[in-house]
Amino acid sequence: MRILILGAAGQVGFELTRTLAGVGQVLTADRVADPALGVALAIDIGDPLGLAERVIALAPDVIVNAAAYTAVDQAEDEPELADRINHLALVALGQAARRCNALVLHYSTDYVFDGRGTAPYREDHATAPRSVYGRSKLAGEQALAASGCAFLLLRTAWVYAARGKNFLLTMLRVAAQRDELTVVDDQVGCPTTARFLADTSAVLVRRWLAADPVQRAQIEGICHVASAGQVSWCGFARDIIARAHALGLLARATPVRAIT
Ligand SMILES: NC(=O)c1ccc[n+]([C@@H]2O[C@H](COP(=O)([O-])OP(=O)(O)OC[C@H]3O[C@@H](n4cnc5c(N)ncnc54)[C@H](OP(=O)(O)O)[C@@H]3O)[C@@H](O)[C@H]2O)c1
Repeated sequence: MRILILGAAGQVGFELTRTLAGVGQVLTADRVADPALGVALAIDIGDPLGLAERVIALAPDVIVNAAAYTAVDQAEDEPELADRINHLALVALGQAARRCNALVLHYSTDYVFDGRGTAPYREDHATAPRSVYGRSKLAGEQALAASGCAFLLLRTAWVYAARGKNFLLTMLRVAAQRDELTVVDDQVGCPTTARFLADTSAVLVRRWLAADPVQRAQIEGICHVASAGQVSWCGFARDIIARAHALGLLARATPVRAIT
C-alpha cells in the first residue's frame, strides 16, 4: 500500500507522516525536499501538468493532499497563485487519482462558508466564500468532486501545531515582546490541532482501505472535522498565555484586551 503525502512539511502534513507510517509505505513530498523534516521528494503542486505526471509515475494507492496556499490575507493580492495551488492542482490530482485508481484525501476550510452562521456548520450547509482564499478552496473541492475519483474531503478550522505558522506560536511570540495584546473577540471558532487531524485522517484511511466498495462509498465525501468546543480569538489568546505562563514558557501573563 503506497501513500503519497503532498505538503509533508506543513503543519498537518508533518503530523501525517507519523500517523500514516503504520498504514502503508509513505512517500513524502513538499515544494522542496528536506531530509531534516522527513520530506523525500520535491513536487510543486502549483505546476498542475507536472503534478499529474509525477503522481501517476509514483502510482500511489492513496494521495493525501496537505499542501495548500494558506496565506489567507496575502491571497487577496495573489488570486492566480492561490487558484493554481488550491484549485487547479485538484483538477490534476483528480485526474491522476483516476488513472491510478487511488483515493484522494484532501483538506478544506470553514472559509468556504460566509461566516455569518451562529451554529456549527453542517456538511450540506450552503457555501458562500467571501475571500480569495475561500473561493480558491471551494473551487478545489468542486474540481475534486467533479473528477470522478474516490475522495475524502475534510473541512477543518483554526489549525495549530507546535511547529509552522499558526495563532498559538504567534501569540507566544508577541506575548513575550509586548506589555499588552489586543485581539478580536467577535470571531468564534474551533481551534483544532494538526495532530488530531492527522490521527483522524489515519483512522479514516485505514477504514477506507479495509472496506468493500459499498462501505467505501459511505466513508467517501465531505466531512467536517474540528475539535470540540468553541472560543473567540481573544479567548484562545488568553488561554494560550495563561497556560504558557503556568508552564513557565512565558515570564509573565501578558494581558489581552478584547476588541471587535
Ligand atoms: N491552517 C489553518 O488554520 C487551516 C484551517 C482550515 C483548513 N486548513 C487546510 O488544511 C490543510 C493543511 O493546512 P496547514 O495548516 O497544514 O498548511 P501549512 O502549514 O501552510 O502547510 C502547507 C504546506 O504546503 C506547501 N506548499 C504550498 N505551496 C506548495 C506548492 N506549490 N507545491 C508544493 N507544496 C506547497 C507549503 O510549503 P511552503 O511553506 O514552502 O509554502 C507547506 O509545507 C490545507 O488544505 C489548508 O487549506 C488549514
